[in-house]
Amino acid sequence: MKILWFLTCLFTLSLAQNDPINTRRFPKNLRIGVANAAPQIEGAWNVDGKGETIWDHFAHTYPERIADRSTPDIACRSYEKYKEDVAMVKAMGLYHYRLSIAWSRILPTGYVDNVNQLGVQYYKNLFKELRDNGIVPMVTLYHWDLPQPLQDQMGGWINETIVDIFADYAKLCFELFGDDVKWWITINEPKQVCQSGYGSLYFPPAIEASGTLAYVCSKNVLLAHAKAYHIYDELFREKNQGQIAMVIDATWYEPGSDDPLDIAAAERAQQFDIGIYGNPLFNGDWPQIVKDRVAERSKLEGLSESRLPTLTAFEIDYIKGTSDYLGLNHYSTQLINHTAEFPIGKPSFENDKNVIYWHRDDWTQGSADWFWDVPWGLRKFLVWLKNNYNNPEIVITENGFSDTSGTLEDDNRITYLEGHVSACLDAIYYDNVNLTGYTVWSILDDWEWGGGYTSFLGMYKVDFNDPERPRIKRKSADYFTDVVKRRCLVEESQCVDQ
Ligand code: NOJ
Repeated sequence: MKILWFLTCLFTLSLAQNDPINTRRFPKNLRIGVANAAPQIEGAWNVDGKGETIWDHFAHTYPERIADRSTPDIACRSYEKYKEDVAMVKAMGLYHYRLSIAWSRILPTGYVDNVNQLGVQYYKNLFKELRDNGIVPMVTLYHWDLPQPLQDQMGGWINETIVDIFADYAKLCFELFGDDVKWWITINEPKQVCQSGYGSLYFPPAIEASGTLAYVCSKNVLLAHAKAYHIYDELFREKNQGQIAMVIDATWYEPGSDDPLDIAAAERAQQFDIGIYGNPLFNGDWPQIVKDRVAERSKLEGLSESRLPTLTAFEIDYIKGTSDYLGLNHYSTQLINHTAEFPIGKPSFENDKNVIYWHRDDWTQGSADWFWDVPWGLRKFLVWLKNNYNNPEIVITENGFSDTSGTLEDDNRITYLEGHVSACLDAIYYDNVNLTGYTVWSILDDWEWGGGYTSFLGMYKVDFNDPERPRIKRKSADYFTDVVKRRCLVEESQCVDQ
């Protein structure tokens, strides 16, 4: 009994531990930047020929599904104020600016036969502004804003025709912007595109089919990404010398105890959340545990085929190796426990995954019930990616703290950034993770999808009540500017050079 008590205390202590802040100077190849996305900051939703997106449509049609009934119609007005945004990035001394192209701003119908020159010009102007200021663009082609006609006409990501339509759009972007952009992201957070879009009512197209259509979406997203990658590889790489990748999002799942069942449950959760995309991209095919579990439950549901679509040998080969680096969006850690098999009933992704989530009460919470400030989770995650995907180059494409207060004295955000950058340095220096980029989400507050304007992640506040949308510096902006300048988390006198 005493031994059990001792082990429990030891385990609890190890979960609570706060690692000391890493004092090493950042390695020279670690690029530091900030991220945002067109639908969340640009506004001008129907200006200069831009077409409607699924998020415009959703916010206008179902205001009750957005926390404050807001829309992205105006957002931060970055369509007009982009020069101001670039000046802020420059003032912070950052290397890169991650932004997204709004598909429907350059192709209002989604198809390449109808190019909106004013939309093209907007991004050309933005890239020129970045170039003139010595800031490197990192560009996402798809940050959730599908042109609405593609949803209406063919069902969006669950129709395999999307693979060719997306690839045509990607090719056009490589042609138009390839001289300026060397750092491409095809699709942002496929898990949200598929599992939220085809698994909940709070993310368009808001179809509840997480155990069925969402898996079809996953397959199409992977094929669309791979096709864009091959086009870049064959037609543009030699001339443009860029890199192209998919960005995967995931929470780190820490076993809730050292019981082998909890350890297996945490690994299973990891494979369902990240492995569905990471395994096909880096190892080939869906993770075995995902194939086995979905097939088993499909059988118990009386289905003759697994709900998880098969990847053919050709498709496996076509997708494998199509990410020049691993783009990672990471915000939080959760604890995972094993649980008895969920009853057979309506097919669902969570039932296929079959785990229990929890967290420690002493973790600082962000704006959601899954958002906790746990820096050591990021370090463990980076090591997991290194081990599972054959030591890829990793770029953190999003990381940051979300709160609901919007305070200018954002000490929680400073603590979060300090802890997470420190965890990156630990992973680089002690675990030999090949991490070459770290990107804060975000420089500005933005329209947070279903959260509307009720949760804030910016190092600059945006006053959404003022028609001018002024940007107001938070304490974290000064903190991070200093860190970027020193390339060290601690005072110059304590900083250790390599
Ligand atoms: C991930 C998404 O890519 C981004 O659009 C969102 O704003 C952040 N998470 C923060 O919630």
